Amino acid sequence: MKEIGVKKQTALTYYEVALSELPEEYKKLLQQAENALENAYAPYSMFRVGASVLLENGEVIIGNNQENAAYPSGLCAERVALFAAKAQYPDVAIKALAVTARSNTKELLQSPVTPCGSCRQVMAEYEKYNAYNFPVILGGSEDVVWVVPNASDLLPLTFAGEGIKRE
Ligand code: THU
Repeated sequence: MKEIGVKKQTALTYYEVALSELPEEYKKLLQQAENALENAYAPYSMFRVGASVLLENGEVIIGNNQENAAYPSGLCAERVALFAAKAQYPDVAIKALAVTARSNTKELLQSPVTPCGSCRQVMAEYEKYNAYNFPVILGGSEDVVWVVPNASDLLPLTFAGEGIKRE
């Protein structure tokens, strides 16, 4: 194959931070995600995920994974939180999103939880129409947290809806 061009997407840069070094605002947000995972409805996977969205107006909207006997009908914690935030405050910018999880054995994870592709797609679109980029704070493991400064960097070649009419 002879290519006619080489195209590059932003490489993913993220930071590993000690929990104790996390800015207070993010620490609090992660704690709210942690609280939220306690109420996850995850009887099938037993994998509990909590998410919390900090909005520009100071509101925090939480979510957790909601499973269903018809497996694909369930929804991840991130999208539960993001959709609830946008349902209640459609025009308020997202300042940050925190996500954390607990394994089915209730042990801490080996490394912070990382969102699935569908949630990344949703984050990317909200970031695009946000006033600014927002960070994703990932927890769930002992002591370290990963901070991804720009949500949309999590998904290269995002489907941006080109060709679909948008109001
Ligand atoms: N899950 C989330 O809620 N967020 C993630 O980032 C990863 C996966 C949920 C979906 C399902 O309820 C369970 O975790 C196991 O996949």
